[in-house]
Amino acid sequence: MTRIDTMAPVHSAGPCADELRRRVSSETLVRRDEPMSRRTTLRVGGPADVYVEPASERDLAEVIRFCAARAVRFLVLGRGSNLLVRDGGFRGVVISLAHPHFSGIELDGNRLRCGAGARLKDVAIAARRHGLSGLEFLEGIPGSVGGALRMNAGAMNSATFDIVAAVRVMDYAAEIREMAPSAMEVTYRRCGVLERMIALAAVFEGRPDSQEAIAQRMLAFSRKRWASQPAAPSAGCIFKNPITVPAGRLIDELGCKGLRVGAAVVSQEHGNFIVNEGGATARDVLKLIELLREQALARRGIDLETEVEIVGED
Ligand code: EPU
Repeated sequence: MTRIDTMAPVHSAGPCADELRRRVSSETLVRRDEPMSRRTTLRVGGPADVYVEPASERDLAEVIRFCAARAVRFLVLGRGSNLLVRDGGFRGVVISLAHPHFSGIELDGNRLRCGAGARLKDVAIAARRHGLSGLEFLEGIPGSVGGALRMNAGAMNSATFDIVAAVRVMDYAAEIREMAPSAMEVTYRRCGVLERMIALAAVFEGRPDSQEAIAQRMLAFSRKRWASQPAAPSAGCIFKNPITVPAGRLIDELGCKGLRVGAAVVSQEHGNFIVNEGGATARDVLKLIELLREQALARRGIDLETEVEIVGED
């Protein structure tokens, strides 16, 4: 979902946006001051100085080279479902692979080749249509392929890299290559290589099965999710699960469901979700995260680590 480098912040968004626009094709969208509250599922966050949707790998390479040459910070956005942008916004360039060029899904034997911008739900639906099993768990993850790879997203006891056969990546010198998953430094909710490279596409491997059996599993997953997770705007699970206890159960046991800062509330449905009841700020959410961490540490000795990625300025 997100990637940030450590370069110095950009000083002036205006000239930066204009110069970038001149370097890329007319199909590439370049905007100034794009509110990140519109681009994240939690619906909080101030503006990005520059927002870009490259229309091709060539244009994406131009953006990356531009950022490197100008020492401008950048961040790659998926569907913004695991991202908390602070209220001051992001000083630099936010790159989204939402253009249709990056959203293709193609069948190749028992494999699906999917662009980084493809929605996980669409990948699961395509797998069902082609009678490929193993991808059912993707149906309810509200993210894109790129984001799921970046954080090895998971649900229903499966994780993204369980089904990955290869990943096409672009490094920060704008070079493209295919990588085997074994080389990608993958652990629980983390992919080390994608902290310094951009995922462009993935090849997912399925197993042949009947469409009906696949549809039934997807339905069972969907029912389980709707029964246990909130529908209100959120960033999914806020914390990684500690080894000893799932974060949701821990927060539930601590009696913290319903805890509120402004319009940010710990969900009654699932303790590891913070929902935005409407009009919450990033500051509200961050304060609530801190309160939960303090409680977990003080009362259970557990140091909760955020799963959601936190970026931007106060
Ligand atoms: N539980 C409670 N109270 C709660 C929430 C959960 O007692 O308020 C208990 C449940 O009854 C269950 C256990 O805690 O015994 C685990 O809960 P759940 O099955 O909901 O799974 P989870 O570990 O909380 C993980 C992923 C979710 C994914 C679900 C469903 C993490 C951090 N979370 O949640 O992923 O959707 O499994 O498979 O690994 C996400 O990553 O953003 C996310 C939502």
